[in-house]
Amino acid sequence: MLVTTAELFKVAYGRFAIGAYNINSMEQVLGLFHGHVEAQAPMIIQISEGARRYAGVTMLEHILRAAEEMIPEAVFAVHLDHGDEATCYDCIDSGFYSSVMIDASHEPFEENVAITRRVVERAHAKGVSVEAEMGMLGGVEENIQVDEKHARLTDPVEAAEFVRLTGCDSLAVAIGTSHGAYKFTGTQSLHIDRLAEIQQRLPGFPLVMHGSSSVPHEEVERINAAGGALDPSAKGVDADYFAQAYPLGVTKVNIDTDCRLVWTRVHREHFRDHPENFDFREPAQVFMDEFSHFIVHKSQKLGSYGHLEEVRAALSEAQGESLPLKPDQ
Ligand code: G3H
Ligand code: 13P
Ligand code: ZN
Repeated sequence: MLVTTAELFKVAYGRFAIGAYNINSMEQVLGLFHGHVEAQAPMIIQISEGARRYAGVTMLEHILRAAEEMIPEAVFAVHLDHGDEATCYDCIDSGFYSSVMIDASHEPFEENVAITRRVVERAHAKGVSVEAEMGMLGGVEENIQVDEKHARLTDPVEAAEFVRLTGCDSLAVAIGTSHGAYKFTGTQSLHIDRLAEIQQRLPGFPLVMHGSSSVPHEEVERINAAGGALDPSAKGVDADYFAQAYPLGVTKVNIDTDCRLVWTRVHREHFRDHPENFDFREPAQVFMDEFSHFIVHKSQKLGSYGHLEEVRAALSEAQGESLPLKPDQ
């Protein structure tokens, strides 16, 4: 069932976070759908501009519509990840995306406000939600002076002002995470204190954590043992932090790198162990199964595990009508 991020955030706020995963292929979509049904958890499917170029806008929409038909028990929202203004308008007009992210965080504050405000007006006219970003998400390096380090984090006062001026529906905050596999070089971790300050200024407002892959050491080691050449110092966000983040208003947690690591490990190990094979469906099937298990584990860490019935009941109540029954009912 395709729902909006706003509906999911209403149920999740303060109690659990919803995993937002990037997709590029049919195998990822099937793994996500099966994994989330097994976990009995809702999910957010994210589509980046790169994914739209890679697979094609129409292909991605049809893959998701097909998955919805094949696995009707799944509850998901479709979201544009890190969009520019033009792509946001394209997604808003498509009628398929329930929310878009306008990423103008690299612009000065006033320009970010102006761009975000324009997108919010166009989106809200069509019932689409808008995620915006304030503060500069990036690597937090140990050799950066403390002042500079904090200058990159989201300022709580500015964040509240930004939300008031733009009317956006959720906000991606910079609290020490960054994209990719190399987030921390030493003992740094998330700035939970900063998150608490942001929530104090924006009570009840959904916050988003980007760059939240865990980059498990064991996964990196297995990839390298199967011929990969990843920097063994690769380090991500300890998934145990999610339980500290969702009580502080984080309702959406973005994960992409970890999904790529599962894919890379499965395929490298498969072709190392079966050099005679050229049927790509064999490693693809292993990937889908492993990816489903990975999703079940992430859902436990995010706290979304086991909340599907409750989400369906809340949606049903809000819509005042009965939702489609599970296939076995
Ligand atoms: O934050 C970006 C996501 O990891 C998507 O990556 O732009 O390479 O599709 P991508
Ligand atoms: P990771 O690189 O940590 O998976 O972050 C993904 C992300 O934030 C997508 O928007
Ligand atoms: Zn991101």
